[in-house]
Amino acid sequence: MARVRSWIAAAEHLCVLTGAGMSAESGVPTFRDALTGLWARHDPMALASEPGFRRDPGLVWGWYAERREGVRQARPNAGHLALARWQARHPGRLSLVTQNVDDLHQRAGSTGLLALHGALLEDRWLAPCPRQAPGASGCDPACADAGPPPRCAHCGNLVRPGVVWFGEHLPGAAFTSALEAAARCDLMLVVGTSGMVHPAAGLPGRAVEHGARVVIVNPLPSQLDGHAHEVLRGTAAGLLPCLLDD
Ligand code: OAD
Repeated sequence: MARVRSWIAAAEHLCVLTGAGMSAESGVPTFRDALTGLWARHDPMALASEPGFRRDPGLVWGWYAERREGVRQARPNAGHLALARWQARHPGRLSLVTQNVDDLHQRAGSTGLLALHGALLEDRWLAPCPRQAPGASGCDPACADAGPPPRCAHCGNLVRPGVVWFGEHLPGAAFTSALEAAARCDLMLVVGTSGMVHPAAGLPGRAVEHGARVVIVNPLPSQLDGHAHEVLRGTAAGLLPCLLDD
């Protein structure tokens, strides 16, 4: 711990990559934990892909509605809050990259978040709006009927959650900024991710290639441990305040 604290203090630029374990202590389930993870109980291709949504839009919408409710009731934990405090005390020194689709980093007070997998609480059209003229915004998903899933009265388009599904590209601007941050940082903290989903899982390797140290915070082994200069076995809410607070 003391060594990692000294690395953090000395870092000109710190990049933090978070995954589902970051929000576990806020009560938001992870994906791959053996008993409690979402993918232990649900088929990812049925619930988190466009073909799955087209096959049964009501089922998929209902599953996301439940997750949205869980996230609305969750509160940022001590780990989210420690990251936001560190960023406020060290302006311009932190890039915070997350695979999480909840809004707990933002509610903790973090700014400039690079959200690689979208936003659970946002809506967007399943297909580009057919009434969208060049330069115009087309129909507004907020005006769709109640559903489930909500459907546009004008164009018939379905509303879907604003998350990245399997087989889809990451939001380009956020991913480009995350690649830049991984190349620029001198220390990357990797918190609460299994490291199984690419391209996000490639960021720690990129940081190492560019000369940064990598530190893992995770109670269990992850695919990324091989890149790490230090592995801290503990939880986000337990360890981040100890690492980041003065
Ligand atoms: P996973 O569910 O794959 O991994 C969660 C990780 O968090 C595991 O390594 C756990 O050991 C660790 N963990 C559990 N509790 C923790 C705690 N309290 N503190 C710290 N770590 C803890 O989640 P991700 O790696 O985020 O994709 O999964 C990556 C992507 O796969 C997700 O973003 C999602 C999913 O399919 C999309 O939504 C596109």
